[in-house]
Amino acid sequence: MVGYVARWPASDAEPEHVAHITYCALGQGKRAWRMKPMPSPRPLFDLAAILSRPVASVLVCPDEWSMDAAAMLLPDMVATTTAQDPKSPASTDFGPLAGHPVVLAPTVGREGQAWADMMANLLAKAGVRDVKVLDMAGVAGSMGRELSSSDEWGLADAVDGGLAAEALATLMSTDPELIRFHVDERQKRATEVMLHSDTTPMTEESLSLFRSDATGVYKLVERQESGETIREYVRFCSPLTVVAETRDGDGRNWGRLLCVVDRDNIRKEWAMPMEQLAGDGINYRSELLSMGLTIGSARKAREFLHEFISSERPKEKARCVPRTGWHGRAYVSVNETLRPGQDAQERLLLQTTVPPDHPFRMAGDLAAWQDEIARYAIGNSRLGLALSAAFAAPLLYPLDAEGGGFHLRGGSSTGKSTALAVGGSVWGGGGLNGFLRTWRATSNGLEGVAALHCDALLCLDEMGQVDGREAGAIAYMLANGSGKSRAGRTGEARSSASWRVLFLSSGEVGLADKLADDGRGRRAAAGQEVRIVDIPADAGAGFGLFENLHAFGSADAFARHLKSAAARHYGHASRAFLKVVVERFDDIQQEARFLCDRFVRDHCPEGADGQISRVAARFGLIAAAGEIARDAGILPWPEGEAMRAAGVCFNGWLAQRGGIEPAEERDAIARVRHFIELHGASRFELMGAGLEPHPDMRVTHRAGFRAGDAAKGYEYIVLPEVWKADICTGMDVTFVTKTLAQRGFLRVGSDGKAQTKRRLPGFEGPVRCYVIRSSIMGEASH
Ligand SMILES: Nc1ncnc2c1ncn2[C@@H]1O[C@H](COP(=O)(O)OP(=O)(O)OP(=O)(O)O)[C@@H](O)[C@H]1O
Ligand SMILES: [Mg+2]
Repeated sequence: MVGYVARWPASDAEPEHVAHITYCALGQGKRAWRMKPMPSPRPLFDLAAILSRPVASVLVCPDEWSMDAAAMLLPDMVATTTAQDPKSPASTDFGPLAGHPVVLAPTVGREGQAWADMMANLLAKAGVRDVKVLDMAGVAGSMGRELSSSDEWGLADAVDGGLAAEALATLMSTDPELIRFHVDERQKRATEVMLHSDTTPMTEESLSLFRSDATGVYKLVERQESGETIREYVRFCSPLTVVAETRDGDGRNWGRLLCVVDRDNIRKEWAMPMEQLAGDGINYRSELLSMGLTIGSARKAREFLHEFISSERPKEKARCVPRTGWHGRAYVSVNETLRPGQDAQERLLLQTTVPPDHPFRMAGDLAAWQDEIARYAIGNSRLGLALSAAFAAPLLYPLDAEGGGFHLRGGSSTGKSTALAVGGSVWGGGGLNGFLRTWRATSNGLEGVAALHCDALLCLDEMGQVDGREAGAIAYMLANGSGKSRAGRTGEARSSASWRVLFLSSGEVGLADKLADDGRGRRAAAGQEVRIVDIPADAGAGFGLFENLHAFGSADAFARHLKSAAARHYGHASRAFLKVVVERFDDIQQEARFLCDRFVRDHCPEGADGQISRVAARFGLIAAAGEIARDAGILPWPEGEAMRAAGVCFNGWLAQRGGIEPAEERDAIARVRHFIELHGASRFELMGAGLEPHPDMRVTHRAGFRAGDAAKGYEYIVLPEVWKADICTGMDVTFVTKTLAQRGFLRVGSDGKAQTKRRLPGFEGPVRCYVIRSSIMGEASH
């Protein structure tokens, strides 16, 4: 605390009086309470509450009485006021409000309006973009109060008049206009005067070609009436502002940041590339229309709009970027740009040819999200992993880590899509499918989706919907971070889309099976398996994907609760997390590295192959992100929970992978074992003393010979061409041979060569062949 503000209300005899009681330094180390003004800039009232609720709406009140009333009437918002005489709050530091939606609560009447105009101006200077105003006249009207023009009537009066929080809540839900965008009254009056006096001759210098205000955009036109030239403004579209000129870091791709206020009073911004103005403009017009702009139907209206956008020269300039995510130390999301501190640099904006159709929306609130979703991940490793992964996505860049994904594989109705929805609720939702996207797309189609999810989480549900070949291509493409490079119209290489994503996926089969299912014997390359980490969805506790049902009676009820909660509360957690990461970039980078290394040290088996340590590092990043989000107060978990969840999932992955050797070696052994399992009896001729083939056992398509006996195990002798063409199909023959020899599954000749010379029935001299030991069948297959 800095001090107290004493305020004596105005009376008929005296104006309002304000005094500060401040804890002052008196020199020589002495401190005491004195009646002295606080040094400016002064803190907002209850600053601690504002800082502790980073995403809450803040209600700015003109004085402490209305603030108390606000705390009662609007408990969902944080109420505050300035430490100064309400007429001159300029010495207050409004910086902490940047990023919060702010609502002003002026009294009805001229003074209240003047206060609101002044506040809106100060807030805009402090970088607050979303300033609305609570319509107190509307509140008074709903209570049946008739107010005269000289009445000053505010929130405190409403409480005195008997207004209760429930009644106000009902009123707000029935009248969406009760809280609306602030319009500066003086500006409005000025334009009204101008509009209504359109036949009066105006002086040259006062006229600009376009006028724009809360009612729409107007163009100055001339017409002749009874021999006289009349100049008047005609309206051609609903409110539209050209906020800033944009261009990229190289001074190319110029554009305009357009802001539309639709009929619901919702502001929407779009950074439009200027190249859109090159043709007849049909593309940009249809985008503006879909954003809620209304354009006059006459051809002239379209021409005026075109002229307006191209001729407006806003003072503000902004840098545009072609994709979301990190740009230096700033994080650009679809809706806003987060950057450290009171960084006064130019705005950074996402500029796209069409305003992106994205699921990064917000609903509900952070506290409810924590209570109804995040809390239930405690003790549920897969949910813990999904949530931690959501926070890990924006840490890929600070840690210079590679992109990639996790695939939850398991039977139907085990809770896979639920886990994805839980992870997705960190970032957004809404619409029909919430935050989930589907695999059912071509790799080209997914490029756009991936670019939109750069440095964010991407959830892809139901791998089953896409064919095997496409799945493999998509896996590589997503993880590698760039799309196909295509040639432009004149054959020049166009820059391809690029991204850095972390994705969660689900399906009844894994990527490897998916690739195999096109029947051409294709296998997942080890690289693909490392890029999409396959985790069994079943946690083995008998509840499908879940281990701990908390207080729910069944896994089914638990899953249904999570899905419905994720459809109500979403989007807030990532924003709160990004704010922290942007502010403490270096600390978080170090902390994440440390936690990630610790995870790898604790979990990665000794002597494991590079592929395993790579996957362990990916799990480590997830664990670190979860712990950091917990530290920041976003995940309501006990310490170590994220580490534990990632650990359980990593072990699940390792167990189903079946060993710590490189995947290619495992595949090589599996391939040979599979061939012998399948054809050991039918395609290998028995040979050796006393081993007369049974007359009924005819060998067709001979692959080789069997020697030895059933008790001690056979040796399988394979002829070189069969080895190459039938057994090692599609694999690197030398690699398979080498792997088997190293493991002792292949008998090596006395000269150290993999081929041994044998005498075989039907062959004249000794022939070179491969001899497989039956021990290859002995090792437990996984
Ligand atoms: N672990 C579970 N045990 C029992 N029922 C469950 C479980 N998980 C989900 N369900 C039920 O199945 C429904 C679908 O859940 P969800 O979409 O998460 O399943 P899924 O694993 O994605 O299935 P699918 O493979 O069919 O898409 C839930 O609404 C719930 O009723
Ligand atoms: Mg599903």
